[in-house]
Amino acid sequence: MKINWTGFSKKTPAERLEFLKAHELLQDENWQNLANQYYLPLETANQMSENVLSILALPYSIAPDFLIDEQVYQVPFVTEEPSVVAAASFAAKIIKRSGGFKTKIHNRQMIGQVALYDVPDVAKALEQIQNEKSALLKLANQAHPSIVKRGGGARELRTDFLEGETDFLVVYLVVDTQEAMGANILNTMLEALKERLEEITGGQSLMAILSNYATEALVTASCEIDFHSLSRDKAEAERTAQRIVLASQFAKQDPYRASTHNKGIFNGIDAVLLATGNDWRAIEAGAHAYAAHDGAYQGLSQWEVDLEEEKLYGQLTLPMPVAAKGGSIGLNPMVVASFDLLGQPTAKELASIVVSVGLAQNFAALRALVTTGIQAGHMKLQAKSLALLAGAQEDEIAAVVAELLKEKQFNQAKAKEILTKMRKEK
Ligand code: HMG
Repeated sequence: MKINWTGFSKKTPAERLEFLKAHELLQDENWQNLANQYYLPLETANQMSENVLSILALPYSIAPDFLIDEQVYQVPFVTEEPSVVAAASFAAKIIKRSGGFKTKIHNRQMIGQVALYDVPDVAKALEQIQNEKSALLKLANQAHPSIVKRGGGARELRTDFLEGETDFLVVYLVVDTQEAMGANILNTMLEALKERLEEITGGQSLMAILSNYATEALVTASCEIDFHSLSRDKAEAERTAQRIVLASQFAKQDPYRASTHNKGIFNGIDAVLLATGNDWRAIEAGAHAYAAHDGAYQGLSQWEVDLEEEKLYGQLTLPMPVAAKGGSIGLNPMVVASFDLLGQPTAKELASIVVSVGLAQNFAALRALVTTGIQAGHMKLQAKSLALLAGAQEDEIAAVVAELLKEKQFNQAKAKEILTKMRKEK
């Protein structure tokens, strides 16, 4: 069903919920949970963490109409930061018009490591590990039989020798974790390997733990944006596209900019990770390590332009080992609602959605930065919400906003004053 989202942002939360209901975007139970703010029972919170006292709530929003791999998604966002959802919605709308996002899952496996030191004969130890590779993979799988039953399991074992102040022999285990993020699976398997690895190598194991640098779980999202979606004025559209390209080059060259550029990408990514109960610390850690995979910390996205085709091309590749099952995903009613809203995506589909959101967020931020500047959008949003608070109707909002933006400083009283004057003059 094609849904017309125009004006959705101007509705009240209750009207937005009615809109979701009318378009059957949620199961009734999940809709009720959203409507009744049944976010997380204290008993459940007390199982998730320690020394629990209460619950901290955050705004739960929706960024509509993301066209990703020919499918439309309504994406839940949890964020406290103004303009993130507006920017994502804006970008989703423009990119949908130009054909949407295309994604590629390069792989979906997690990596863990056992670090050994004081290995007496490194060459012999490396050879022994290679000789016992299949037995070690079997040992890892025996430690977590349920993931093997679900079609996953340990797939590969690699080694590296790191020379430094202390020399480390590192054993990397690569595991197919199916729909789970896999921290528990990996850690159980790695701990099961520790003893045997000490026997084989004669060394001491220092630790056994999964790595968040998930280079075997890379996902690429790309999009192409027609110039005419950037502006009706052809010259202005071309200039905006070229300046977005320059912005992406600048973020490759300057780590001060790269950090902010990537923060903008994570404005959207973290919001979706939070809404879907995923471990955003893990994803952030992996992505920032990936941002330095060429040796220097760089902006994660690339933008290019084709002046003949009149198109702007964007691409973002990230390690994205998100989960669609496990952890707290089934426990939190809001997270259950998020998966319902997204149409119960698999872990791979969710990874595609999350990276596409990151690219959308980056596009909106760069477009604002290289055109009006970031503050103009913020001021406009603030003016819009003051106009609404002052009681402006749909057909009055634009005029009140325009008048408010002429003021150096504005507040709700000013918005009311403008509205009253405007109505008298009608
Ligand atoms: P605009 O052109 O004034 O938007 O941009 P508009 O009023 O013409 O509306 C266009 C569409 O945007 C709407 O369509 C909505 O889809 C969406 P409609 O529904 O009207 O048919 N939209 C909204 N959606 C929900 N609530 C709203 C709303 N307003 C518009 N209130 C906009 C306005 C804010 C979109 C634009 O200025 C923008 O994209 N700015 C960038 C904002 C941003 O990136 N914020 C993140 C925080 S800043 C930061 O931390 C990151 C940064 O440092 C990263 C970096 O440096 O790279 C910037």
